[in-house]
Amino acid sequence: MDSLHIELSQNLKQKPEPSALGFGQYFSDHMFMMEYSLEKGWHDPKIMPYGPIALDPSAMVFHYGQEVFEGMKAYRTAIGELVLFRPDMNLKRLNESCERLSIPQVEPSTLLQGITELIKIDASWIPSGEENALYIRPFIIATEPCLGVRASHTYKLMVILSPVGSYYPEGIHPVSIYVEQRYVRAFRGGTGAAKTASNYAASIKAQEDAKQSGYSQVLWLDGVESKYVEEVGSMNVFFKVNGEVITPALSGSILAGVTRDSVIALLKSWGIPVSERKVAMEELVEAHKQGLLEEAFGTGTAAVISPIGSMKWGELELSIGGGKTGKLSKKLYDTITGIQRGQLDDSLGWRYRI
Ligand code: COI
Repeated sequence: MDSLHIELSQNLKQKPEPSALGFGQYFSDHMFMMEYSLEKGWHDPKIMPYGPIALDPSAMVFHYGQEVFEGMKAYRTAIGELVLFRPDMNLKRLNESCERLSIPQVEPSTLLQGITELIKIDASWIPSGEENALYIRPFIIATEPCLGVRASHTYKLMVILSPVGSYYPEGIHPVSIYVEQRYVRAFRGGTGAAKTASNYAASIKAQEDAKQSGYSQVLWLDGVESKYVEEVGSMNVFFKVNGEVITPALSGSILAGVTRDSVIALLKSWGIPVSERKVAMEELVEAHKQGLLEEAFGTGTAAVISPIGSMKWGELELSIGGGKTGKLSKKLYDTITGIQRGQLDDSLGWRYRI
């Protein structure tokens, strides 16, 4: 692999106020880029000033969506260390998504080196503030100018950085979700387990409709029977029913979330029963009727832990935990963010120091 070339920006931008970040609206001064060709494989890794890129209008990504992406966060701890959270998991998942989309896989150590160098250069973009972090968005696009439907012969991998606040304006306060019955996000044999743009594109219509009706997110059901819970918009989902925590099993149509995996590991380490299995909406309604649906929450890199205060399914409106953040959701949020930010012991070895 060629060595990393670095070109620093001569025109540094003004940074936004940490209190007004929102999610994904500002971008740091630099970006990482690497090219792929059949002859050279992945080559020419470089860090350069952040800015627009030129692509041929016939670049395959514009027509057939051959693309994958990831989401990670960087933090500065109280003693000034720069850390990532389980980056090995994201790089592994990126390559799994590549495999599904027929995109050539990337050597994880090369990409991790590019990401860490980029963060060191733009470290001043890690925002202060308890709920803030520097969001890292690696992505790969098919760049070959060609309208044939096949795998591209050339690709561009890029990493951009965005200082972010909480994903939902609600922060750690509960969101209300709409259980989608008309549209489907993923199905057996599809791309639901891959982090690829088309999954999100297909979700936008339902998301917009739900928003118009006053809900923050859509809960997707399985694509075969519209019966079993899959995931919520940009998060995996968990339910606490009568002391047991249940999350849909990774069936191939659900994203294998890093936060999901971390929550399961923490629950196990706390001795709380947790099962990965099919969860039918009917089962949740029944548990709710009996007063046993104690908590519900979503998990994701962007959202961390997002409590769910109510679910609308057809005519039914289920209020969960009195619309308040549950004890377990709060404990998980505090523990995960505490480990990420270096405030808690990292006995599971999840922090990665840059
Ligand atoms: C993340 O949690 O990192 C995601 O990728 C969700 C995103 C689509 C906002």
